[in-house]
Amino acid sequence: MIKRLMLVLLTTTVFSASFSQQTNSLIVKVAQPTATIEPTMWGIFFEDINFGADGGIYAEMVKNRSFEFFKPLMGWTVNRKKFVEGEVLVVNRGEENTRNPRFLRVTMNNAAKGDLGLTNEGFRGMGIKKGMRYDLSILYRQPQAHTKLHIELIDTTKRVVGDTVLSLTEAGDSWHKAAVSFHANETVLKGKMNIWFEGNGVVDLDMISLFPGDTWKNRPGGMRSDMVQLLADMKPGFIRFPGGCIVEGFDLSNRYRWKNTVGPIEERQLMINRWNIEFPHQNAPDYFQTFGLGFFEYFQLAEDIGAEALPILNCGMACQFNSAELVPMKDLDPFIQDALDLVEFANGDVNTKWGKVRVDMGHPAPFNLKMMGIGNENWGPQYIERLKAFQTAIKGKYPNIKLICSSGTDPKGERFDYLNGELRKLNADFIDEHYYRKPEWFLQNARRYDNYPRTGSKVFGGEYASHVDKTVGNNRNTWLAALSEAAFMTGLERNADVVGMASYAPLFANVDAWQWAPDLIWVNNLQAYGTPDYQVQKLFSLNKGSKVVPITLNNEAVAGQDSLYASACIDAATNELIIKVVNASDKAFNNALQLDGVKKIAAKGKLLSMQSDLTAVNSFDSPTNVAPVESTIAIKNKKIVLNTAPYSFSVLRVKLE
Ligand code: AHR
Repeated sequence: MIKRLMLVLLTTTVFSASFSQQTNSLIVKVAQPTATIEPTMWGIFFEDINFGADGGIYAEMVKNRSFEFFKPLMGWTVNRKKFVEGEVLVVNRGEENTRNPRFLRVTMNNAAKGDLGLTNEGFRGMGIKKGMRYDLSILYRQPQAHTKLHIELIDTTKRVVGDTVLSLTEAGDSWHKAAVSFHANETVLKGKMNIWFEGNGVVDLDMISLFPGDTWKNRPGGMRSDMVQLLADMKPGFIRFPGGCIVEGFDLSNRYRWKNTVGPIEERQLMINRWNIEFPHQNAPDYFQTFGLGFFEYFQLAEDIGAEALPILNCGMACQFNSAELVPMKDLDPFIQDALDLVEFANGDVNTKWGKVRVDMGHPAPFNLKMMGIGNENWGPQYIERLKAFQTAIKGKYPNIKLICSSGTDPKGERFDYLNGELRKLNADFIDEHYYRKPEWFLQNARRYDNYPRTGSKVFGGEYASHVDKTVGNNRNTWLAALSEAAFMTGLERNADVVGMASYAPLFANVDAWQWAPDLIWVNNLQAYGTPDYQVQKLFSLNKGSKVVPITLNNEAVAGQDSLYASACIDAATNELIIKVVNASDKAFNNALQLDGVKKIAAKGKLLSMQSDLTAVNSFDSPTNVAPVESTIAIKNKKIVLNTAPYSFSVLRVKLE
């Protein structure tokens, strides 16, 4: 039967409804809960890939603001009327400031506006909004107070669409911060910023930064509010961060080190992003991590959107697809110490070393960290050996911290079987399984967890996405992809006693700078939209429930019979029955739902349905082309007739009285 469905899914691009509708009799045993659904069940996974952080959610508009890219002037152009040798120099003060060694030294010869200047191109341009306030800041020092900076935002024809003047008023040997705000009078998708110099003599410049005034919660130097809002709207149970492969690094020197990402931003040491060079066909030579979005900001984001923080730490091993570099066991202690210190950073009080760092950054209350991941997609006996050392140390000091452990890159095969076995012996709290597979795999695996061990380690579906076509550029977020994920997710929900958490991956992609597709949310400099996959994730998350109840067809879980998939749960907080049904076939069905064990039930329920052509996508122009439509549905004699259109996903909520 699954084979027949595959054929239909693969060959059908436009749905065609059959006129003779089959009736399925489904029974929901409302009073027989089988599992508890954890509040963390549906979450999100943030990785700085596809320009997700710099050039994405981190709202900084200036690329290479501190001249630390490999090519120090990448992103910048020097504009001059007449070339003068040495008038713009990149100076390296390596010994004095190892974290932010470079700055720009500009020498002006009675410069007037238009004689000498810099242009920053932004991250594939700068998104400029009419009427929006822009906040420019800069670090500078100069022997005499003589410099004026003329700031201009320009469109693609170099027309000025917002400008201001910033006078640098301090003189001497130390660095000062200057800032100015101004408004734009046009909307431009791919603008740039000019800085023209006026004055005579030398000025040193660093950390040249521009943020829009509408950051999330209006935090200076904050995040893009449209992107955070899309996350907040999902009400995710957790946020896993910062990766993914960037945790591992292509070698150990490139691994993610959280301690380099906290404290004043000018002291956060920039690093190449591993996705800069990962795919030859999608190289991004200007992809670096400034860490303006660092661990403090990740924790704060988690708190803002009501999600549990799930940081992932390097386990002493770099990416095994790249260098496979690892530290000898005798040198593992600093890695383990990073994990212990992270708990202190998140939860410790002001009298602890790392707790004080958090307090000094403006968050006196603890972040209440409850879990962390050790390693990303690491594998082999080397991983297990290192994990054991982490587990002993972390559980010894913080017995209540749950540890998420890697099962490698694939959900089956020798590597997986070995890790799964070893991790279960170690009584790992969570085993992180990743599945980037075709839609057929997701449909075929809706029963994956039906026969998993019900005790011991829980599963974390840490990364998954349905890939319709691995060809670069064709692997799109179609309704087929989202529908197959929805079918699979009914299986995760049915097995909530086995699967404690799950998250789609990756989260964000900049339409002009992506390396990996499909992705949950696509952005340009001005807009962001959720894909059909996003809409599915959101429907599951907003209709989570707290207890699983059985829903059956001919006494069996509904997991692919006639391409139908279903799960049901009770939301104890609202006393509602929630039923999810995926019809992955090209036929419409009448589903007669009989609700057993119900005392009293409302006469009407709320129905949210998604249905579309399998190739349909969302876009900037049509962001909700594939999105849920709400209606009401009648309930008579504890029975519901739920008509499911071809290729549809329906979520039904009914009040139990
Ligand atoms: O999500 C993209 C990448 O896929 C992640 O970095 C990695 O964990 C996985 O291989």
